[in-house]
Amino acid sequence: MTDKTYEPAAETVARAHVNAAQYEEMYARSIKDPDGFWGDEARARLDWIKPFTKVRNATFAHPDVSIRWFEDGALNVCANCVDRHLATRADQTAILWESDDPAVDAKITYRQLHEKVCRMANVLKGQGVVKGDRVVLYLPMIPEAAYAMLACARIGAIHSVVFAGFSPDALANRINDSAAKLLITADEAPRGGRRTALKANADEALLHCSDKVKCLVVKHTGGQTTWVDGRDVDVKAEMAKVSADCPVEEMNAEDPLFILYTSGSTGRPKGVVHTTGGYLLHAAMTHQLVFDYHDGDVYWCTADVGWVTGHSYIVYGPLANGATTLMFEGVPTYPDASRFWRVCEKHKVNQFYTAPTAIRALMGQGEEFVEAADLSSLRLLGSVGEPINPEAWLWYNRVVGKERLPIVDTWWQTENGGILISALPGAIATKPGSATRPFFGVEPAVVDPQTGKEIETVEAEGVLCMKNAWPGMFRTVYGDHDRYVSTYFSDFKGYYFSGDGCRRDQDGYYWITGRVDDVINVSGHRMGTAEVESALVAHPKVAEAAVVGYPHDLKGQGIYAYVTLMAGDEPSDELRKELSDWVRKEIGPIAKPDLLQWAPGLPKTRSGKIMRRILRKIAENEHESLGDISTLADPSVVEDLIENRKNRD
Ligand code: PRX
Repeated sequence: MTDKTYEPAAETVARAHVNAAQYEEMYARSIKDPDGFWGDEARARLDWIKPFTKVRNATFAHPDVSIRWFEDGALNVCANCVDRHLATRADQTAILWESDDPAVDAKITYRQLHEKVCRMANVLKGQGVVKGDRVVLYLPMIPEAAYAMLACARIGAIHSVVFAGFSPDALANRINDSAAKLLITADEAPRGGRRTALKANADEALLHCSDKVKCLVVKHTGGQTTWVDGRDVDVKAEMAKVSADCPVEEMNAEDPLFILYTSGSTGRPKGVVHTTGGYLLHAAMTHQLVFDYHDGDVYWCTADVGWVTGHSYIVYGPLANGATTLMFEGVPTYPDASRFWRVCEKHKVNQFYTAPTAIRALMGQGEEFVEAADLSSLRLLGSVGEPINPEAWLWYNRVVGKERLPIVDTWWQTENGGILISALPGAIATKPGSATRPFFGVEPAVVDPQTGKEIETVEAEGVLCMKNAWPGMFRTVYGDHDRYVSTYFSDFKGYYFSGDGCRRDQDGYYWITGRVDDVINVSGHRMGTAEVESALVAHPKVAEAAVVGYPHDLKGQGIYAYVTLMAGDEPSDELRKELSDWVRKEIGPIAKPDLLQWAPGLPKTRSGKIMRRILRKIAENEHESLGDISTLADPSVVEDLIENRKNRD
């Protein structure tokens, strides 16, 4: 079933920016002559304050990894996303905002966007923010989130957006790690008819931060908040007072644009650093070509700006292209499961980009919710965040796409800046469950994890690496370049290691099989098992914890926690709930274990290392195939774990 190939429809090919022959030709040039290829693209797609003379200066060679693109050029991201459109499209809608409340929406033109961003930038300056300072954003999906990102870019401040679903502790860690000068938040975040008290969370977070950190508050719902005089600032009131003019800062192409924290297999989340020129070029180009965006289209990516998808494909890519980008505050199931489709109908959306977890959730609600809406404006469907299972792909294709729309399954990561493997709609036939082929300049290698050698045959199975730098890739881990080198460039020297497993088929198509490290993907949210473990062991009653992923029908993967209690503490349902709430408080609701098993002991080697392979098998309900357990210090613990396993599906 999954090997069936879907050729692009004639109308898709006719309209597409890139057809099959052009893809082959452009791809070949991008690999053979990267300097020529990317130099041309960068000059054509971006406005430079100072033209670059050097395109690429990059090496993956261990341990001196260093990536630079357009390094002697200067530009400003905000000028590229806003100012340069004023001459031609000042009155076109830049941001189409759909509130959580289906009766409320707003259209912000490029002219209005320019004014708001300049005012916000002047408020930041008034608070003493200067080029290079870090600013943390903890906001709902409201236009102010985009204003704040662009305002930072305008004055050269480095933003770090923290997903509004993260807890005060997680927020505090990110403010402290980036030594941010200022936090921008809102009173409340409405989602699905409920409200999260963001400002209250921010207040709690700031108790753990330097008292120099200022807090700008967007009064969004008007909900009650406590106010700390001298620290808290009403942004909208200040924006009304300051000048609507703000010059753009000249930025070197390699100056940082933003930091985004993401989970890895060990330790605390890492601050992934993206820079200015290469990132914007990659975001803009992929947005135009992968989604086949044309002037006048209405484009909707349902991600949250707290994740990289929201950065590249709600804000930077679309706005660099002068697009109309839809920003949605709500959830797919509120007021009911037709919301996505109603929004597509209401705003005549042309490109729709979402995550498999949302598709699976909506599939379960029945087709009538889709049928109820007129989806004739749609021209393309996209998927991102996790492998899309063929059932979900086929449903998306049949029920939403009416078997006439191309589906682009886009594989990429926070570290990548933009899409690396995906179909181009008019050029590449699709196969359900495959991200298909690499984007321009992207040279994937399937590497044998045992030997560390690249598998040269077309058909191959192994781990997914990249052989060469692409413009949008991250440049470092904030404050810890050694961690950058050791996490991504050390296991397989000379390559960027993605952490994903993959298969390449006889047609050279890539099939991503999921993470091969201790990172799990829960509803498209990336989570390190180590993070959940350290949250659990921080509880006074927990002696030890091990966390693994297991297959979950809706979420893709669920979180399975094995917990050993301190001597004298007894398992109980109340304690189970207490631990679950504890993790929620430490990290956020997305990290709550789905299943929690009391483990009198954990399977360990004689040297004390936890055998995660065994824990994964039990969590997957595949205990029949545990393999060799004779090397365990105490094989009998496994019996108990199997007997009391929580997943019996
Ligand atoms: O495992 C891959 C999965 O999501 C991981 C990256 O997560 P994050 O950095 O949060 O970025 C998500 C959005 C860009 C990858 O290592 N992943 C993402 N997209 C796909 C995917 N797995 C399979 N197919 C995809 N299209």
